[in-house]
Amino acid sequence: IWLNLKNFKEKAAYIYDYLFPEQIISKFKELTRFQFDKNDIICSAFPKSGITLIQEIVYLIQSDFNYEQAKQKDISDRFSFLEWPSVSLKELNNEREKYPEKIRLMKTHLPPIVFNDTFKKAKIIYIYRNPKDVCVSLYHFLKSINVDIGYTGKFYEFHESFLIDELYYAPWWRHVNDYYSLKESIFIVSYEELLKNFQPTIRRLAAYLGKSITTEQLDKLEQWCSFESMKTNSKVNYDWFKDYGFVKKDFSFMRKGQIGDWLNYFDINTSKKFDEMVRKKVNNEIQFDYGIT
Ligand code: A3P
Repeated sequence: IWLNLKNFKEKAAYIYDYLFPEQIISKFKELTRFQFDKNDIICSAFPKSGITLIQEIVYLIQSDFNYEQAKQKDISDRFSFLEWPSVSLKELNNEREKYPEKIRLMKTHLPPIVFNDTFKKAKIIYIYRNPKDVCVSLYHFLKSINVDIGYTGKFYEFHESFLIDELYYAPWWRHVNDYYSLKESIFIVSYEELLKNFQPTIRRLAAYLGKSITTEQLDKLEQWCSFESMKTNSKVNYDWFKDYGFVKKDFSFMRKGQIGDWLNYFDINTSKKFDEMVRKKVNNEIQFDYGIT
């Protein structure tokens, strides 16, 4: 059953109690059958939770800090975005047959329920972010998109859609809960923790990936991954979206990169509604950092 979501350009449909945009639904059968293995690394997140940042970090750790390659290849060519229509799962399969030991780097916004049991064989890195900042970041992103998945409404309408779970990949809270339930075997980190506590977090991540990391390597990585540096790095800032007309001219993927930008958009009532949603629906073991001390 197709749904027309308020102010969204593209239709959506419910599968496994999640809402997905039309353009990825035709791929679902193939996605549910896709075979993962121990040489796969998957970065996952609800949209606008910091996946690009974690991808760049994972790429560099995994490649033993091959900055030359990172400078040459766009992030979207270094990771296969599993549900994206132009990404061929068949090719990924063929690659696996040819090179059984090769590390395949993948990105997805899909929740774990979409995948079969082999998903758990992969190394999974999940990043989440406080929902108020996710809401603001996602609003700006979808507003600047010209194509299919774009959004045409106002912020007050968008936050309502967020609260009633009428967004692509929603419910946000189910996404977080579902990945959190895998916490024993996957690597989970919040965007805020990553920004505030970069080096200890990256040490943990490197250990999860079976890699060692020196203090010098950490220092360089931290600089490389700073907001200012990534904002001007054309291999991670998606400026090429502009060349293809995907986005409006004033689009900036690296928009603000802050904790607490929601304070510029939320009134007290809206904020309370989000707090209530979190209290009622998110596993209460999960803490969120809203950037207020
Ligand atoms: P804002 O819109 O709040 O600025 P994703 O990669 O999951 O789409 O998330 C995008 C968000 O992460 C954007 O948030 C973007 O600015 C932020 N981001 C990306 N790289 C970052 C970095 N190096 N440091 C801080 N924030 C970063």
